[in-house]
This record gives sequence, C-alpha cells and structure tokens, in this order.
Amino acid sequence: MHLYGTQAIDGQGHLTIGGVNSIELAKEYGTPLFVYDIELFRKRARAFQETFESAGIGYQVAYASKAFSSIAIYQVAAQEGLSLDVVSGGELFTAVKAGFPKEKIHFHGNNKSLGELQMAFEEGIGCIVVDNFHEIGQLKLLSEELKQPMNILLRVTPGIEAHTHDYITTGQEDSKFGFDLNNGQADQAFEQTHRHDYLNVLGLHCHIGSQIFDTAAFRLAAGKLVSKMSEWQKEFDYQCKVLNLGGGFGIRYTEEDQPLEPSQYVKEMIDTVKQITEDSGFPVPEIWIEPGRSLVGDAGTTLYTIGSMKEVPEIRKYIAVDGGMSDNIRPALYGAAYSSMIANKGHQALSETYTVAGKCCESGDKLIEQATLPEAEAGDILAVFCTGAYGYSMASNYNRIARPAVVFAENGKHQLAVRRETHEDIVSLDLEYGVKAEL
Ligand code: LLP
Repeated sequence: MHLYGTQAIDGQGHLTIGGVNSIELAKEYGTPLFVYDIELFRKRARAFQETFESAGIGYQVAYASKAFSSIAIYQVAAQEGLSLDVVSGGELFTAVKAGFPKEKIHFHGNNKSLGELQMAFEEGIGCIVVDNFHEIGQLKLLSEELKQPMNILLRVTPGIEAHTHDYITTGQEDSKFGFDLNNGQADQAFEQTHRHDYLNVLGLHCHIGSQIFDTAAFRLAAGKLVSKMSEWQKEFDYQCKVLNLGGGFGIRYTEEDQPLEPSQYVKEMIDTVKQITEDSGFPVPEIWIEPGRSLVGDAGTTLYTIGSMKEVPEIRKYIAVDGGMSDNIRPALYGAAYSSMIANKGHQALSETYTVAGKCCESGDKLIEQATLPEAEAGDILAVFCTGAYGYSMASNYNRIARPAVVFAENGKHQLAVRRETHEDIVSLDLEYGVKAEL
C-alpha cells in the first residue's frame, strides 16, 4: 500500500491525513468526504517555485484550478504565492470572492462569452490567454470601448500531443484549442494583435496534454515556441517576454504510474529554454506553467462508507460505497485507475479482491475494478487515494445525489472547505409547475 504526503497509519490501524484521524473525520462530517492534505499542496507549490527561484529565472506558477476550484483552495494558493488559471466566469467569480490577487489571474477558454470577457476587464485581471480569432475581435472591441489595456498570451497548438509516456508530433494538430503554430494561424494572430493600442502581447502559451511522465514533449514544445518568438522578433522587431508551457505533470494513481518530481520537469524546461536562447540570441523569457493535477491530485483522498456487498460466484465480489460516478466520473469516463485502502483496517492483511461499485443507477458506475483489501464489512470506511484533481470539480447531481463535503486537514487540525450539499440545495433551483417565476 502506498501512502501519500502526510498520510500515515496510527496505532489503531487508522489512516491519518495531515495528522488527523480519517475515521474521526468520516464520523464528524459524514461520507462521502473529500479530504485534502494541505501540507502536500503547499509542498508541491513550493517545489515548483523553488526550482525557478534557484535557476534565477522569471516565472509564474499558476494553479490550474479546473482541477479543484473552491474559495478556500484559492486562498491557500494565494498564501503560497501562486498565480491562478481560471477557465470560466464561475471560476473567476470564485477567485474574486476568495480575494485572490487579480493581477495574478489568467483567463483561459476556447469560447469565452462577451460577458466573461467584460468581467475580466472589470476585475482588471492579469492576463487573458487568447484562443481564437473570434476572441481577438471581441477583445479589440471591448478594450477600445473601455479604453482599457489588457495583457494577452496567444495560445498555440505546436503539433505535439503528449499522453503519459508517449507523445506524437504532427504537422497540424486537430484540436479545438488555440492557433496552429505550423499553418500560419499563429502568425496571423500575432500580426492582428501585437500593434494594437490596448492589447499587450506578452508571449505564447501551449498545453500539450495531461498526466505526462517524461520531459521530452515539454522540451520539444519549448523549442518550437521560442523559435517562433525569435522569428517574430527578427521580422517584427517585437519581443515576446513570456513562454507559458501549460500543465500536465503526471502523478501516481497506482503503482503503474511513475512520475518525475515536479522540480525535474521544471529543471528540464529551464535547461532547454536556456540552451535555445543561447543558440538563437533571443533573450531568456519568463517561464510560466499551469499545474493542476500535480498540485492537488494526490493531496485529495475520498472517504466512503461501505454498504452493500454482492458476490457473483466464481466471478467477483462487489462492495458498494455511498458515492461513485457522481463524485468521481474519471473511472467511467476515462477508465481511470485508482488505489484504495480500508481506512479503519490499516493493520489487517490484504486478503480479498473486490470490485468497488458506486451507488448510481448505471452499470458502469465502478470506481475500482480490482481493489486488494482486507475483508470488508458494511460500515468500513474506504479511502480512495488521489482523487484531489478532477474529482469534486467534475462532480454532478446524477440521480440527485448530493455532492460531498470537502475538508482540509493540516498539522493535526481540520476545517470544512466546502459544505455538503443538502437535498434542499438540490431542489433550490427547481420551480413549481405552472408558476411563472422571475428570470
Ligand atoms: N493548462 C491548460 C490550458 C489546461 O487545459 C489544463 C488541463 C491544465 C493547464 C492543467 O493540466 P493538469 O496539470 O491538471 O494535467 N478531466 C481530465 C483532465 C482534463 C485536463 C484539461 N486541461 C482528467 O480528469 O484527467
């Protein structure tokens, strides 16, 4: 069994997280419950930032908050000096509510609405990552109307797609995001923006994939983007100052996954950029990155209560938990694999193999195909590890199941970060049939 961050097994065989007994947390807050190891989040944030610091290079580490967005996590991110990547009016609103430093907010998205762009101007955020020509048009109109400058990055697709250990390079990328770097679209976007009175082109952005385990694709992408910036400097006498290489750094969900240390990705990016700039004479840009999963993924654990069990003789034993695809869609959506333990049986031998099923009305609602666990009983607490990224943030009310609570644990203390949804919350947007309501 692999434990993450501050996790430990105490004398009673109970899983502790951040020095807090998970069984006590389950009792106090109920299950399903997301528990975040805040010390691990801070450690990761520091590891990324310290690597830049020690290389003496300008940087921003923006937390890609689609992985887990809430007021409290934004506040911890702010304490750690992180910047913030938001992708919707909802995430931006959350950041503003959290009091996140606005100049460190970066706004992403391939179809930002006019209202969302207006909000970005009103709030005076740090930068908009521009995705397409329609958005360029809207930004020009808005900034001219408001007479308000805005920093922008141009998101490009460099023709590199990375998945775990492999990457592929293509002349042209079939992606809904960004301007193609290879077919002239990126040049066109640059030509349309860099001389604009209010739009300040800081540089280029790319995001080449998620759950990436080696650095080759990042190095290749860095090379392509810096070459383009250097080409533009020669052609247009304009110097881009920022190279944003996105997120995607992999984490360990199961023993099959062998990620690098966060610092390793960053070190290699920096070395590559230094090398290329030295060769081309282009000044070293600031390097920005956007980790999501690698900041919160393994910092999050979901606690469930085991309820019913079913044996299909000679085939498998099911144990069912009180959540499922409504709080973790990743197994059903991507076939994602997770590891787990019975949090109140940390000292017991792993004698059984179970399929962990959720409680949703959907046969595919299985969280773990084969979990090796001690003998399970109703009432045991199952801890599923590494659910901190794209778990709560992709949760739904399928079957009108209320979304779980989220608790932060750190240094032996715990606090509610998102309260559990109630049935009242669930019906709170519903209207009675035949009653005309205000919009
Ligand atoms: N920056 C951009 C522009 C992105 O699109 C993403 C993720 C990130 C940063 C953060 O990537 P990370 O470091 O978390 O890998 N729902 C999927 C993941 C979707 C990722 C979308 N973009 C999953 O559950 O695996």
